[in-house]
Amino acid sequence: MSQDKIIIFDTTLRDGEQSPGASMNLAEKLEVALALKDLGVDVIEAGFPIASPGDFEAVREIANTIHGPIICGLARCNPLDIDRAWEALKDNPKPRIHVFLATSAIHREFKLRMAKEEIVRRAVEGVKRAKGYCQDVEFSPEDAARTELDFLTEVVEKTIEAGATTINIPDTVGFAIPSQYGKVIAHLKKHVRGIERAVISVHCHNDLGLAVANSLEAVMEGAGQIECTINGIGERAGNAALEEIVMALKTRPDFFKVGTSINTKKILSTSRLVSHVTGIQVQRNKAVVGQNAFAHEAGIHQDGLLKERTTYEIMDPKDIGLAKTELVLGKHSGRHALKQRVEELGYHLDDKAFQTLFEEFKALADRKKEIYDADIEALAEARIHTGPSVWTLEAVTCNAGTGTIPSAVVALWDKDGNIVREASIGDGPIDAVFKTISKLTATQVTLKDFRLRSVSVGEDAQGEAHVEVEFQGKHLSARAVSTDIIEASALAFLQVINRVITRQAAVERIKPTAGLTET
Ligand code: KIV
Ligand code: ZN
Repeated sequence: MSQDKIIIFDTTLRDGEQSPGASMNLAEKLEVALALKDLGVDVIEAGFPIASPGDFEAVREIANTIHGPIICGLARCNPLDIDRAWEALKDNPKPRIHVFLATSAIHREFKLRMAKEEIVRRAVEGVKRAKGYCQDVEFSPEDAARTELDFLTEVVEKTIEAGATTINIPDTVGFAIPSQYGKVIAHLKKHVRGIERAVISVHCHNDLGLAVANSLEAVMEGAGQIECTINGIGERAGNAALEEIVMALKTRPDFFKVGTSINTKKILSTSRLVSHVTGIQVQRNKAVVGQNAFAHEAGIHQDGLLKERTTYEIMDPKDIGLAKTELVLGKHSGRHALKQRVEELGYHLDDKAFQTLFEEFKALADRKKEIYDADIEALAEARIHTGPSVWTLEAVTCNAGTGTIPSAVVALWDKDGNIVREASIGDGPIDAVFKTISKLTATQVTLKDFRLRSVSVGEDAQGEAHVEVEFQGKHLSARAVSTDIIEASALAFLQVINRVITRQAAVERIKPTAGLTET
C-alpha cells in the first residue's frame, strides 16, 4: 500500500496514560481527545476498555462524543476483551478494534507459556472475532522487534488472511536499531502474501532513545502508520514523540516525500495541555516543544538569526504555534480577548466553565498586575481538572519557622455541607497540612512527589503545586495554583484525595471483568 500521507495514530490516552503518574480522569481524557482531534490525528487510541471500569467509561465517552478521527480501543486476543472493547466503541462512526498478542520467544516461553501454533491460532481467532464487530481491525504481534523473522512473517500473513486491515510491528521494549528495524519492515513487505491489503504500522518505545529514529526508518521502508504520543510519554522511557515525527516529516520533505494531516500550529498547545493534565513536565531541551527548542543564547547565533532566521533555525517556531511575543492580559482585558487566548492555548471550555474562568481571571487581575499565558493555562486547567469533589477546602493555616514545631489547621466541607476541622504537627508545614487532610478525610496515601513552581514571572506570580501519590499500587497526581503556595499545596493534595475516593467508589460499583496479568 503506497501513500503520500502517513497515518498518525495517537496513543497518548492508552500507552501514554500507562506511564506512572500520568493517569487522567474522565474530564481530562475528553479534553485531551478533543485537542487531538483539533490537532488532526487520524486515529485516537482512547484506552484499554477491559483494564478498568474507568478505562471503559473513558473509551465509551470519547467514542460517543469525538467524531472525525478513527476511535480505537485495545484488546487482548480473547473474547471478553474484544467484546468489551466493542461495547465501548460501538456508537462511533469510525471504530477500530486493536487486538494484540505477544509473539517473541521470550514472551511465548515465560509469559504466555504457549507454542507457536497456539499463538497463531489465538491471533487469528482474535482478529476474526473483532472482524465480526467492525471492518477496521488492527493486529499487533507484541514484542515483534524481538520475534524470529520467519515466525513474524507467518503470524502477519495469517492475521491479514483473517481480516486485519492494519498490522502493527511493535518494538515493545525499545530494543531495535534503525537499520535493523527498517529491514524487518522491508522483509514483511517483500515476503508476506497479501501484505498489500494491510497498512503496516510501527509502534516504537524509547528505551534506547531510538523510538523516533526507528519509526522514521520504517517509513523509508514503506510503513504507512506511526503510533506515537504527545511529548513522547508512555511506558518506561516512553513512546515515539508525535511532535518530533511530524516535524521531521515536515522539515525534510526532500528526504521522506510524505506528509501528515497534522495541523502543526496546534502542536505546542497540545503538548502543554498534556503536560499540564498528566503533571509530566517537558524537559527544557526537548526537541520541538522544549522551552529551549527555539531559544538562542550564543551571540554568534543571535547575530546570524537577526540577519536570516534560517541560519540557525531549521523550523519556523510559528509552525508549531509558538507566538513571537506572549500576549499579556490585565484587569482591563475583556471577555472576548480572554476567550480568544484560552482557545489559542488549546482549551475547550463550555459557556459555564468559561464564565467561571472569566470571574477567576478578574479576581486574579485584582491581585496581579499582568496575566501571562501560564496564568491563563493554570485557570483553564482548574476548570477541566475538576472531577467530582467529595471534600472542598474552606481554610488552611500553618505555622512554621526556626525553633517552632510545624503545625497546620485545616477546615473542610464534606459533600453534605458539613464543616470539619482538625490540626496536626508535621516534619514541615506542608507535611502538617497533608497529614491533617489525610486525618479529616480518613484516606491514607503514600506521597511520591511534591513540587512547587512559579507559573509566571514577577513578585506577584502564582505558585503551582504538583502532588503525586500512590494508592493501592496506582499513581495519581493533581495540580493546583494560587498566589498562596500553602493553599495551592492543600488544594492539590485534596484534589488527589478526592480522586482516590471517587476511584474507590467506582471500583466498588463495577468490579472489573478480568485481571490483566496474562494475555
Ligand atoms: O508496546 C507494545 O507492544 C504495545 C502493544 C499493545 C501495541 O503497546
Ligand atoms: Zn507500547
